Amino acid sequence: LRKRDLVVVSNREPYVHSRTDDGIAVERSAGGLTTALDPVLRRLGGTWVAWGSGDADAAVADDGTVRVPPEEPAYDLERVFLAESTVEDYYYGYSNSTLWPLCHGDLGRIRSEPSHWPAYERANERFADAVVEGVEGGDPDPIVWIQDYHFALLSDRLRSRSGLPDAATIAQFWHVPWPSPDAVRVSPHARELLEGLLGNDLLGFHLPAYRRNFLETVDRLLPGASVDREAGIVRSEGTGSSEPERTRVYARPIGIDVSSARRAESTEEPSSVFEDYELDPGRSLLLGVERLDYAKGIRERLRAFEHLLETEPRWRESVTHLMVAGPTREQVPEYRRYQRRVREQVAAINARFGTDDWTPVRHVEAAVDWERLLALYRAADALVVSSRRDGLNLVAMEYVAANAGGTGTLVLSELAGASEILEGAIEINPYDVAGTAAAIDRALSLEIDEADEAQERLESLSESVRRHDVGEWVRSFDREVRALATDAAARG
Ligand code: G6P
Repeated sequence: LRKRDLVVVSNREPYVHSRTDDGIAVERSAGGLTTALDPVLRRLGGTWVAWGSGDADAAVADDGTVRVPPEEPAYDLERVFLAESTVEDYYYGYSNSTLWPLCHGDLGRIRSEPSHWPAYERANERFADAVVEGVEGGDPDPIVWIQDYHFALLSDRLRSRSGLPDAATIAQFWHVPWPSPDAVRVSPHARELLEGLLGNDLLGFHLPAYRRNFLETVDRLLPGASVDREAGIVRSEGTGSSEPERTRVYARPIGIDVSSARRAESTEEPSSVFEDYELDPGRSLLLGVERLDYAKGIRERLRAFEHLLETEPRWRESVTHLMVAGPTREQVPEYRRYQRRVREQVAAINARFGTDDWTPVRHVEAAVDWERLLALYRAADALVVSSRRDGLNLVAMEYVAANAGGTGTLVLSELAGASEILEGAIEINPYDVAGTAAAIDRALSLEIDEADEAQERLESLSESVRRHDVGEWVRSFDREVRALATDAAARG
């Protein structure tokens, strides 16, 4: 990879500039994708093309490009500025009101408006222009690495641009689940989505199951395509060019930058968080960390926590559930409704069980910075990830890495992709209220009186997290890119 220019494209930018009373401030974005990819670009250099979402993004560089990270510039961040109406219809609309629920198997939450799809197409066109501008006249064989569900049409649109060097490799990684063909069929744009994605030379998913679903979807819904399921090769009629296209489809889960989570030792003391969040160190601490998203199963978990307090009175006044769940995608009505319900549920549990000096659930409704988050991970007796569906879930891995060599138990939804690769968690089905309550009970009890088992679990988890370091994910991408060249040579 080092020898070829790398252009990463994602909707969310890794750094956001915004105006404050003291001038312009820059912050890292929350969310798994940017957190995982930033260390990669820091190491490899290159260009990251993303939506300029901050109100001061345009002010920091005339041409939209800025060197980041601010403290130690290592790569170019090229911002694409979108009209407000495009953001409304492409990002809040098609991406997060149709594709997100569709990919997470929550078909009842799909909301679609006639203006959504055209805006999605428009945004993909805009990003195609930005990428071509970035690579034109440069390296003759750049690698364009597109990220996620916001850009199902981008590779195809890139192919139709004359400025793209012939030897460019176009690859995409899909960070959310790929659902069953039956779910995809629901979409009136299923065909366009699939044809769009098949403009890629290489297409990656986290898990073999997502890859299998994708290949099966193509097989069922695109009669013109030929699918080799074993080899993961799809041949299709290209829409952007007249040549038939060939896409190699692989599976390899992303991971975290283990070394940055391990640096926890040298940073904030876990004890500081007890003070800041008014927690009593004498009580057990159950932590949850996520964006306030229905896919994360926050309401299911709250119900389970309530059930635990109902049925196991010994936990009353002796455990606090701290939820760090900042609002997200608030222009989408489903998200606003969900936030309201979560708040009501927290208030009801606290009213029912709280006492003068104990609040059962504390909800922190803001993103917490990295150092603080690491201190929280280390302070918590257990972390609970209760996703109803999740492409992978990197929070689970961060928790394990931050605690490696120490203590902490992971309660993990079997419906999160991470459960396929992490060994040693206490698994839950978040729809099973009593089962989830029992798992939380077990996790907190382990930390108190079964230190050996807790330690064994954590060691095994740490081993799986290390094996899936983000560096491994990049190396696997590199291998796949090379395999493309070998395939092409073999075909002559
Ligand atoms: C998920 C998606 C990412 C997205 C992140 C945060 O991890 O796969 O593409 O960036 O959520 O969501 P947001 O809508 O704030 O970018």
